[in-house]
Amino acid sequence: MFTNKSTNLRIPGPVPLPDNILKTVGSQMINHRGPEYAEMLHSMTKNLKSALFTTNDAYFITTSGTGAMEAAIANTIEKGDKVLSIVIGVFGERFTEIATSYGANVTKLEFPLGKPADLDKIRSKIRTIKDLSAVIFTHNESSTGVTNNLEKICGIIREESNALILVDAVSSAAGIPIHVDKWGIDVVATASQKSWVSPPGIAMVTVSKRAWDKNRISSNAKYYFDFQQYEDYLQIGQSPFTPCLSAMYALNVSLQNMLDEGMEHVFDRHTEIANYTRNKALNNGLEILPDLDVASDTVTAIKLPKSIDGNALVSTIRERHNIVVGGGQKSLTGKIFRIGHMGFVEKKQIDETFLAVGEVLESF
Ligand SMILES: Cc1ncc(COP(=O)(O)O)c(C=O)c1O
Repeated sequence: MFTNKSTNLRIPGPVPLPDNILKTVGSQMINHRGPEYAEMLHSMTKNLKSALFTTNDAYFITTSGTGAMEAAIANTIEKGDKVLSIVIGVFGERFTEIATSYGANVTKLEFPLGKPADLDKIRSKIRTIKDLSAVIFTHNESSTGVTNNLEKICGIIREESNALILVDAVSSAAGIPIHVDKWGIDVVATASQKSWVSPPGIAMVTVSKRAWDKNRISSNAKYYFDFQQYEDYLQIGQSPFTPCLSAMYALNVSLQNMLDEGMEHVFDRHTEIANYTRNKALNNGLEILPDLDVASDTVTAIKLPKSIDGNALVSTIRERHNIVVGGGQKSLTGKIFRIGHMGFVEKKQIDETFLAVGEVLESF
């Protein structure tokens, strides 16, 4: 039988759930075509828009973050459309692959792992692409612990083109500020299991008028992810397809908690614990992968000396200390480890994590 021993989950999502949210996950099922669901869905939609500072449409889709990224593409990009994909890591690569698989004509603008996107290079690249349809990129690259300057990137795209702005905010939204309307973002894609402090299963998207305009003229095949389905059903207080009710219950409470706390306070909490984590790493003689001014407030990526195998480090920390940190992905496998600090992470838990890291590193 499977036994859940992961009480000390320090990976960049899913995040541990506080008791008041965890208990909602065990609530009895309701009729997802009934009045209680309608009430919950309307309230959640309003709260989601508040958390993302937008009056754009917003939808909950039963899928993971990648599903939300695919929804963004499926609804706004047609075969042959010119798309600029800004890549700073694994998840930027994934966005590129999705756009390519939908037949877009993708130009990739790639930056070294651990670095953010260079603003001047984005500007000059956009200038070279006539009739650019969309720019796609990751806000917070969880694979390298780097946060792109979303506000500035959006500003440049707006100044230089009419392209749609599609943002993978899976590991940033609700932990790092995103002002959808002020910054002119057309589609934001995010997911419940990260800073939204809920179980995996629900992705969220916001959709601007410009994104709708493209959705309506697009000949692209789409069904499950068609935003129109979500809009039509929202009008009658429903989701088009059976939603993951348990995750919705949790997200409902979590959204309300965040707004009650105040989004500024939520973001400040993330900054504080991120600073604490980075300082702890530096004080332990470790090196953060990105420069500190672009280091993420939701996940810290820490470099390892060449002599240390990161995979062995991660598994030994789990076996000896029952603390689960994240390893490196793709080409960073074995070279870094990552500590997630989304949601409610306490300094005491970061202290325990570094005690474990220190002990295992020493023993290696
Ligand atoms: C930045 C980013 N984008 C996309 C994803 C993919 O999300 P999911 O695994 O929920 O499909 C993740 C997951 O870690 C992520 O961190």
